[in-house]
Amino acid sequence: MGGDGILVTGGTGRVGSGVVTALQGRTARPVTVFVRDPARLGPLPAGVRARRGDLRVPADLTAALDGVATMFLLTPDDPAQDAWESEILATAAAAGVERVVKLSAHSAGCTPPRSFGRLHRRAEEALAASGVRWTVLRPTFFLQSLLLFSGDIAARGWFAAPVRHGRVAAVDARDVGEAAAVVLADDDPRHDGATLELTGPQAVSFGEVAAAVGAATDRAVRFRPLPRPVARAVLPRATGMPRWMVANVVDLFAAIEAGAQSRPTPTLATLLGRPPRTLGDFVADHRDRFAPVPAVAR
Ligand SMILES: NC(=O)c1ccc[n+]([C@@H]2O[C@H](COP(=O)([O-])OP(=O)(O)OC[C@H]3O[C@@H](n4cnc5c(N)ncnc54)[C@H](OP(=O)(O)O)[C@@H]3O)[C@@H](O)[C@H]2O)c1
Repeated sequence: MGGDGILVTGGTGRVGSGVVTALQGRTARPVTVFVRDPARLGPLPAGVRARRGDLRVPADLTAALDGVATMFLLTPDDPAQDAWESEILATAAAAGVERVVKLSAHSAGCTPPRSFGRLHRRAEEALAASGVRWTVLRPTFFLQSLLLFSGDIAARGWFAAPVRHGRVAAVDARDVGEAAAVVLADDDPRHDGATLELTGPQAVSFGEVAAAVGAATDRAVRFRPLPRPVARAVLPRATGMPRWMVANVVDLFAAIEAGAQSRPTPTLATLLGRPPRTLGDFVADHRDRFAPVPAVAR
């Protein structure tokens, strides 16, 4: 107990890795990355240490929280994510954590909450009732989620999703990580009790995603809307996702179709002091993942 350290969870993932990188130079406080397998971490910035542990094991977390005052809380999507985060919060509060910055999801802010946001909203409520100082980050659909389609695009030049005309102000997970680092490093009470909607700079349709990927890879890429019942039926086998996750993915696209994530906010640019990355930036950085698969010589 005691101390002013920062603990980062999810450090090997899309958002958490950005948090670790972006904390460098922003804080003089000791930073610990809580990780199941330190070998999965890239080279750590100076002054950052890794601590092995599993978020499902309270004793691991308690040991890692020695000397920690501030925690970045990220858990992966899980059918019991709300209960899981409540347990983590109880452990953190008992270990003396004073402030938590929680990664949530934009769909937690829908009325009523949609998709993965339903469990995030319950976890947000548990955080608000926990007695610690808190900030909630609600990012929209990650541009990185487009990589789920990269295999189809690379192999056959088209992709499908259960959405037609819906537009989404998709956000780059790297920017979300950097924004989290800004909030973690800045102990100012203005962040306390704040729920921040983090979006990309413009709303794009999936037809425009296809056009952007096509332009970057110098070929025609097409988008095909997938009827929702078809998506529910084929996605479990096509993607290997469990049914509860497919149900949430289909509902997420239904919320996007209804315009729930189509309004960009200035919050990310304000936190970062620069414009957030665009769809074009993301596609350019990941061009190789979308590029046509070369024919194998026989
Ligand atoms: N995808 C989207 O479009 C989107 C949009 C808004 C919000 N979100 C939210 O973002 C969150 C996911 O963030 P992400 O995409 O950055 O995650 P990610 O890339 O899938 O990484 C998940 C991280 O959690 C760690 N982890 C998983 N189980 C663990 C355990 N038992 N103990 C310790 N660490 C564990 C993983 O570590 P290992 O290396 O050990 O596996 C990894 O670092 C979810 O809560 C989701 O709802 C996603």
